[in-house]
Amino acid sequence: MTSPSDAEAPLSVRDLVQSATSRLLGAHCADDLDEARLQAEVLYAEVAHLDRAQVIAAGTRPTSDDAREAFDALLARRLKHEPLAYILGRREFFGMTFDVGPGCLIPRPETEALVEAAIAAVEEHPRYRRVVRVADIGTGSGAIAVSIAKHAPSTKVFAVDVSTEALQWAGRNMRKFGVEERMVLLAGDLAEPLTEPIDVLCANLPYVPTEDFLDLPPEIRASEPQVAVEGGPTGIELIARLASTLAQHLAPDCAAAFFELGAGQAGFVEDLVTTALNEAGRGPLDVRVHRDLRGIRRVVEVRYGYPTKS
Ligand SMILES: C[S@@+](CC[C@H](N)C(=O)[O-])C[C@H]1O[C@@H](n2cnc3c(N)ncnc32)[C@H](O)[C@@H]1O
Repeated sequence: MTSPSDAEAPLSVRDLVQSATSRLLGAHCADDLDEARLQAEVLYAEVAHLDRAQVIAAGTRPTSDDAREAFDALLARRLKHEPLAYILGRREFFGMTFDVGPGCLIPRPETEALVEAAIAAVEEHPRYRRVVRVADIGTGSGAIAVSIAKHAPSTKVFAVDVSTEALQWAGRNMRKFGVEERMVLLAGDLAEPLTEPIDVLCANLPYVPTEDFLDLPPEIRASEPQVAVEGGPTGIELIARLASTLAQHLAPDCAAAFFELGAGQAGFVEDLVTTALNEAGRGPLDVRVHRDLRGIRRVVEVRYGYPTKS
């Protein structure tokens, strides 16, 4: 038999998290129990102003009415498959916390490989003691542009996007990390808005083929901008279009270009880019492919004119 005081006893942190975990798993918001629990813990941490370790340690401690109400509101959004990063309004990328929300792609960990390789190309560029001119085509939240500007101070970074909503997020992150004096935001199609020669060009353009877009999880398909994800019938239409104008925008003497790609696309893009640059008389070309942590050939890098290492 339950006494009145038992009936009124608030849920403990552990019970609240446990119940949310089951609901998240039941609604297919997570692939497994561990991921569902992690999401529930992160949401509770958010409303209770704790970190995840503190949520786990809170165990049988009772939850307050306010915390439960705020938690239920966030959980309801997640149960409708809104991405966790949009609910929290932030995502970690390259050791920095970027502001994100509807209108910009949530930065992905695999893009860190592109940023790391691009920073190396900036630091090895002969202009490094002056200013290396960097372009980020399809900047979204500004993840690539802001990370490079922050970690390689000897740069001027042009961040281009066709979406003005995305550019607002990029602007917000640029100011958050204090790099606005070395960054220029440009609205427009691919490299078209660029008016200066570029020493290091980065592009994480949409590369998911139209047919595959429909099979993506609702978190991506229904929440993230389609213009940020879907890359046309083969997936590489935009990248091919950018490759065809690359030589007009890269500095003639020494430059590097980086393209993030989906599985199976690296070979095609390598051919497109090397053909376009060879036809424009650039070279000899040094082509490298960087794999992500899953072993996928994720980033194609093409350089020319760099001094040979002794
Ligand atoms: C895959 S998201 C990458 C966002 C960000 N650079 C990142 O790595 O997280 C692709 C971005 O390209 C932009 N985009 C799509 N088509 C474009 C075009 N024709 N010209 C410029 N940007 C474009 C989208 O708006 C989106 O922000």
